[in-house]
Amino acid sequence: MKIFLDTAEIEEIKTAARWGVLDGVTTNPSLYAKVGGSYDAILQQICKITPGPVSAEVISDDVEGMLEEGRHFAKLAPNIVVKVAMSENGLEAISRFADEGIKTNCTLIFSTNQGLLAAKAGASIISPFVGRLDDINQDGMTVIRELTEIFSLYDIESEVLAASIRNPLHVTQAAMAGAHIATLPMKVLQQMVHHPLTDKGIVQFKKDWESARQAAGHDATGHDA
Ligand code: G3P
Repeated sequence: MKIFLDTAEIEEIKTAARWGVLDGVTTNPSLYAKVGGSYDAILQQICKITPGPVSAEVISDDVEGMLEEGRHFAKLAPNIVVKVAMSENGLEAISRFADEGIKTNCTLIFSTNQGLLAAKAGASIISPFVGRLDDINQDGMTVIRELTEIFSLYDIESEVLAASIRNPLHVTQAAMAGAHIATLPMKVLQQMVHHPLTDKGIVQFKKDWESARQAAGHDATGHDA
């Protein structure tokens, strides 16, 4: 499963890239609002950090407006994917983008049928919001599982991206459900790295190493020549 970062924070993206775990980035108007500035400039910076897909979301409600915004984003960098919210106009825009060779990510997916339609319209990425479904007492992971099964049954090439991921368990469940991609807030990525026994073990190894070096009369951190 590919791991994307769900953020517009450049430093977070640089960190995940340095760790060697970053396959792409998703942004949206809410994430952009947290950092402000020029959305175009932020997208261009992100696209330089990662060669993977970078989602840029349109905000128009009408088809022509979506097309205009999306074509503009697509010119910013070759790895831009235009994010379009699920709607009747959204489907039409996705279909037109597909005809023009512009890749799209259909966002705000809350049912398997919405995902199926987005794929049929030509979206390359389908984004069900797992956490927001869990919030209203519906199992978000069911949509991920059903869509991956359907895409596999019918050889549909669109990728299922588990969005609105809120905790590390969501990541494991998305991977087990066959999600092609999960997009994570930086906090969840960091939570995945850590385990109390790992952190405790590192401290213990360092302590034992230092005791052994001192007993042997060497500098605590130095190695043998
Ligand atoms: O990728 C969509 C994501 O940003 C939504 O997450 O936590 O606001 O539901 P959340």
